[in-house]
Amino acid sequence: MPDIDGIKEAKNFYTDRPQTCEGFFLKGSNSLDWGIKNRLARIFNPQSGRTVMLAIDHGYFQGPTTGLERVDINILPLAPYADTLMLTRGILRSVVPPSTSKAIVLRVSGGASILKELSNEDIAVDIEESIRLNVCPMAVQVFIGGEYEKESIINMTRMVDIGNRYGIPTLAVTAVGKDMARDAKYFQLACRICAELGAHYIKTYYVEKDFDTVTASCPVPIVMVGGKKIPELDALTMAYNAVQQGASGVDMGRNIFQSDAPVAMIQADGAVVHQNMTPADAFDLYRSLKEKG
Ligand code: 5RP
Repeated sequence: MPDIDGIKEAKNFYTDRPQTCEGFFLKGSNSLDWGIKNRLARIFNPQSGRTVMLAIDHGYFQGPTTGLERVDINILPLAPYADTLMLTRGILRSVVPPSTSKAIVLRVSGGASILKELSNEDIAVDIEESIRLNVCPMAVQVFIGGEYEKESIINMTRMVDIGNRYGIPTLAVTAVGKDMARDAKYFQLACRICAELGAHYIKTYYVEKDFDTVTASCPVPIVMVGGKKIPELDALTMAYNAVQQGASGVDMGRNIFQSDAPVAMIQADGAVVHQNMTPADAFDLYRSLKEKG
């Protein structure tokens, strides 16, 4: 029973100060509902407007990838330096401590392996599971131009519809078939289709030429995918160029966990993304952190 005797009378109404209504910091996201915005604000740092996603979901179609053989040993020490972890529910439940404060990007599409047609995916996680696991976005692979293009697009739109019902954003991951040209024209097409059909943000590859046209023509945030392992300075340069050309962060996997010094690399990557550190300075930071061990 609350104590209702001697309640202080309300008096601080600030009648001379109208209530303000601030816009949401993230591109194209101002009209979303509170829950979705709140989740997006856990993925993207509201100060920098950007994110460093650590992608460790490769096992869902290719098994124990180099660097991910033991997530408990190799990946958990990197988590403090990431804004989000992108993974499957299997790794989340079996390895990641529930005490983590990191935003979880849950891979919800699946059903294909490297032994067969990769675009032949379905939705592999129920919405109840995403709610139960308190995830931020649900990630769905979209294969524009792939054999199962339509099915993969519909997987994504289904998750957008269901996620909107519960305040959980959907991340569209643009997957490129082996035979397709990885150029700005292709990524403009793929990202724009995903955004038009409701994806809240999009993960796509960097291209040397005209990447800024990919980000400019996509009305929601784009996060750059790392791709195959390349030398550290090159990976930091790619991340720098991507964010300077409009990407709202990076999603790196192999270029972090296959680096000679993953803990140093993810910190250098974070400096590029959140502090606009130049590639040369970030590489120096990487080397000094690597030396310190
Ligand atoms: C796998 C993915 C990965 O999350 C994505 O490829 C990022 O990892 P990497 O930087 O190693 O390419 O979506 O389908």
